[in-house]
Amino acid sequence: MPQIFVTQQDGQTLTLDVAAGARLMEALRDGGTTVEGTCGGACSCGSCHVYVDAQWLSKLDAAADDESEMIEAIGDVVEVRPSSRLACQIHMSDALDGLSLTIAEAI
Ligand code: FES
Repeated sequence: MPQIFVTQQDGQTLTLDVAAGARLMEALRDGGTTVEGTCGGACSCGSCHVYVDAQWLSKLDAAADDESEMIEAIGDVVEVRPSSRLACQIHMSDALDGLSLTIAEAI
């Protein structure tokens, strides 16, 4: 099963097994991280905001307009970076085995 490497805001690191096809947000939410996934993955809360390590960005599908708009909106209250993504919009695949990310500060 593919694995991801997660760094939390407090510096704690976790390795999570994530089934191919699963939403990354659900794996983070259920895996003991601070991700809440408040909107259930509807791309409307920003609570699954993560910073994807640079070497993985090009392996992800580009953000859709609604994801980009949500990231822009949360930029009023949290730091948004070029590597910002919403984990609910990322679906795990074998090609993402080893994905590394940092969870952004909570909204
Ligand atoms: S879970 Fe709400 S935007 Fe991702």
